[in-house]
Amino acid sequence: MTPAYEFCHWLTQTYVGQEMQGNAYLFPTVEALHIMGSVALVASTSILSLRLSGFFLKEIPVSKIAGQFLPWAWLGFACQVITGTLLFMSEATLAYDNVIFQVKMALIVLAGINALVFQQTAYRRVKFWDLSNPPFSAKFAGYASIVIWFAVIAAGRWLNSSVANSPVLPPT
Ligand code: HEM
Repeated sequence: MTPAYEFCHWLTQTYVGQEMQGNAYLFPTVEALHIMGSVALVASTSILSLRLSGFFLKEIPVSKIAGQFLPWAWLGFACQVITGTLLFMSEATLAYDNVIFQVKMALIVLAGINALVFQQTAYRRVKFWDLSNPPFSAKFAGYASIVIWFAVIAAGRWLNSSVANSPVLPPT
C-alpha cells in the first residue's frame, strides 16, 4: 500500500468521510454547492476575460469590472476548495490516482499561474489601457482563463462519471 493510498483511505474513514459517503442528503448537497461555486468562479472570471478580449463591455473600464467581479471569483474559488475537499474525502481512494482528477488539479494550478502572471504584468499598467483596447498579453490571459476554466469544468464532469464507474480496489 502506498503512503498516498493509506492517507486517502484514512480520509475516507474519518467522520466527515463516512458522513459524506453514508448520509443520503450530504453528498448531493455538497455537489450542488460545488456546481454553484463553479458558476460564481467561472462566470465572474469569464466576464472579465470577455472585456479583456476587447470585444465586450468596451465602454466600461477594465479596473471597474475587475473590482466588481474578482471578489465573486475568490468567493467561488473558496467554495470550490471547501466543497471539493469534502467530495474528495468521500471517494479519495478512487480519485487520488484517477488521471482525470490529476489533470483537473493541474489545470486549476495553471489557471492560478495565468491569473498571477496577468496581475503581475499587464494589469500593473492597466491605467494606460483601462478604457482602450487591451494589450496582447491581457487578451491572451483572458482567452487562456476561459479555456482553462471550461476544461476544469469538463474534467469535473468527466471525473463524476469515471469515479462512479471505477472498481474499489486498493493498489497491490
Ligand atoms: C477550483 C475550481 C473547480 C471547479 C470549477 C470544479 C468543477 C467541478 C464540476 C463541474 C464537477 C462535476 C459536478 C457534477 O457533475 O455533478 C466537479 C466534480 C468534482 N470535483 Fe471539482 N471543481 C473545482 C475544484 C475542485 C477541487 C479543489 C477539488 C478537490 C480538492 C474538487 C473535487 C471534485 C470531485 C472529487 C468531483 C467528483 C464528485 C463526484 O464523484 O461526483 N474540485 N468539479
